[in-house]
Amino acid sequence: MKVLIAGGAGYIGSTIASACLDADIAPILLDNLGGSSFDESLNRTLYEGDIANSDLVDKIFRDHPDIEVAILCAALINVPESVLQPLAYYETNLSKSLLFLESVQRNGCRRLIFSSSTAVFQSDTNAGITETSPLRPESPYTRSKLFFEWILEDVARASRLQALSLRFANPVGADPKMRTGLQSSRPSHALGKLFMAMETGTPFEITGSDFPTRDGTGIRDYVHVWDIAEAHVAALRNLMSDPNKVGGFEAINLGSGRGTTVLELIAAFNQTLGTNVTFILSPRRLGDTTGIFVNLEKAREVLKWEPKLSLEEGIRDSLRWSEVWREKSGNSGKAES
Ligand SMILES: NC(=O)c1ccc[n+]([C@@H]2O[C@H](COP(=O)([O-])OP(=O)(O)OC[C@H]3O[C@@H](n4cnc5c(N)ncnc54)[C@H](O)[C@@H]3O)[C@@H](O)[C@H]2O)c1
Repeated sequence: MKVLIAGGAGYIGSTIASACLDADIAPILLDNLGGSSFDESLNRTLYEGDIANSDLVDKIFRDHPDIEVAILCAALINVPESVLQPLAYYETNLSKSLLFLESVQRNGCRRLIFSSSTAVFQSDTNAGITETSPLRPESPYTRSKLFFEWILEDVARASRLQALSLRFANPVGADPKMRTGLQSSRPSHALGKLFMAMETGTPFEITGSDFPTRDGTGIRDYVHVWDIAEAHVAALRNLMSDPNKVGGFEAINLGSGRGTTVLELIAAFNQTLGTNVTFILSPRRLGDTTGIFVNLEKAREVLKWEPKLSLEEGIRDSLRWSEVWREKSGNSGKAES
């Protein structure tokens, strides 16, 4: 089977490509390399360009008429930046994504997997978030994810499009074989800041300790990026399982199914890496949310998928990858993004 991965040079897309290759699925990548670089040594097929370039998408389908599914990972993804530049975010995550969807459909491909986010939900730490939990996207970035889901739902209702939106939580780690990972030695979320605290010997700053959680600090669902990639392989098989099925939209939550508070993350970090990172408590920042964790029932039932890797493995793989990445980016002479 062949799949087109738009955004296939990025963190999630490149890891999905690794998982596809391991599952004997051939990934064809489309990326404008605006937010990533491409590792030529991996020998993957990349078309460099924009998802909105319909001539390029037509060429990809001419070259690979056997592409069965498109996976749309290409997006702008930085929440604070989206607050400052909403138009840029809506342009890429909606207008350009729409043009990509049109091109995919025009070329006769009627199956699409969309990378969405659990940040479309309202914070709730009392129970795992299900697909029907209240929605409350709080930034242009998260709103763009939800708007595009609604567009997919409408298009699927009006056409033969089979669309699956995978809403994932906070990915950590890298491909366990260290082929691909985050193209930065420092992820922007709490785990990245823990690495920074470890390297500089400074305390980790916990912003907000008065959230309605078991210890007052924010809660997140950290999921290993390899589990997310394998969920995409499961989703590909699900979409291909009934060749006669036409039309339909489903949204499915992906995560570890476990909430981890910031204090628990620090403890897991220190225990896993044998470090002693300390912390200080600071007030909440504007826009900080209590957080959520995910209920996996639908993912288990529909995708027959289960996360296999632990938070500790995610922390270890993040550290291993940051060393690999430093070497790769140093060797290629590319500045870190
Ligand atoms: N990383 C996370 O924490 C997270 C969590 C939930 C959902 N997601 C979703 O997963 C998807 C992938 O995220 P990621 O973390 O891999 O981000 P990333 O920035 O690493 O990858 C995105 C890729 O898309 C490419 N791209 C952006 N605009 C493009 C365009 N117009 N044309 C062609 N290529 C373009 C970039 O060059 C980059 O390689 C996004 O849709 C994001 O919303 C990410």
